[in-house]
Amino acid sequence: MRIAVAGGTGTVGQHVVASLNAGGHEAVSLSRASGVDLVSGTGIDEAIRGVDAVIDVTSTSSQSAKTSIEFFETVTRNLLSAEKLAGVPHHVALSIVGAAKADSGYYAGKVAQEHLVMAQPAGWTILRATQFHEFAAQMATSAAFGPLQLAPIARTQPIAAAEVGGALAEIALGEPRGLDKDLAGPREEKMTRMVRAYLAAHGLRRLVVDFPMPGAMGRGMRDGSILPGPDARLGTQTFDEWLAEQRVAARA
Ligand SMILES: NC(=O)c1ccc[n+]([C@@H]2O[C@H](COP(=O)([O-])OP(=O)(O)OC[C@H]3O[C@@H](n4cnc5c(N)ncnc54)[C@H](OP(=O)(O)O)[C@@H]3O)[C@@H](O)[C@H]2O)c1
Repeated sequence: MRIAVAGGTGTVGQHVVASLNAGGHEAVSLSRASGVDLVSGTGIDEAIRGVDAVIDVTSTSSQSAKTSIEFFETVTRNLLSAEKLAGVPHHVALSIVGAAKADSGYYAGKVAQEHLVMAQPAGWTILRATQFHEFAAQMATSAAFGPLQLAPIARTQPIAAAEVGGALAEIALGEPRGLDKDLAGPREEKMTRMVRAYLAAHGLRRLVVDFPMPGAMGRGMRDGSILPGPDARLGTQTFDEWLAEQRVAARA
């Protein structure tokens, strides 16, 4: 099958593309790197011609609710209207476990995205996943200020982005599921420990400051709202196993 991956160059998008290719399918990556701007709409119609499904794993780095809503609504509207024109039967979106409960900041954009996907008449699947193990790496890049490292205080049950990518590829190759079962990692972790362990594993010496994210999003991260429920599907790789794998890959 031929599947478009919006955000195919991103943290999870690369794994979606790899998983589709490994299964003998054709993955078409849509990102600015490949000349497709999903905010302005440039290049979408040509890129999704003839695809059997579109998987949306785009993201914005903004934590502002207004910017996040604008980004996810614009990208989703642009994708859905191009899919309608091209007759694409299945739209798959990746969302976040608990975002609907802690609806503020970045999560507000995810909630807006979910609403648009659920309201459209064509086939859709929404997969809500927990934070990726790679979130610790994203923090080490985006929340470091000279010698200081911010580590958000959060209870999370993280999962390897590779496992999420594999799940998304499998979903896109099948029939639309609507709101799918949540997907989470095998055990609960403290985000602050993950950030410290990541820095130590990469020899990065920084003063780590545990940081409560503001607003409803931050409260939700601390009070367990973003943890999976009892019905969630669980991945297998723990954060420490993922970190060990990273170290081996870096030495190779
Ligand atoms: N990170 C987590 O822990 C986590 C957990 C659960 C769910 N999620 C969800 O998973 C999705 C992907 O997250 P991620 O961390 O993998 O994101 P990411 O690494 O930041 O990648 C974002 C992707 O979006 C593309 N993109 C951004 N703006 C674009 C534009 N205007 N036009 C076309 N492409 C654009 C980027 O490519 P270019 O820069 O080349 O355009 C990149 O491929 C998000 O929706 C997020 O909410 C993330």
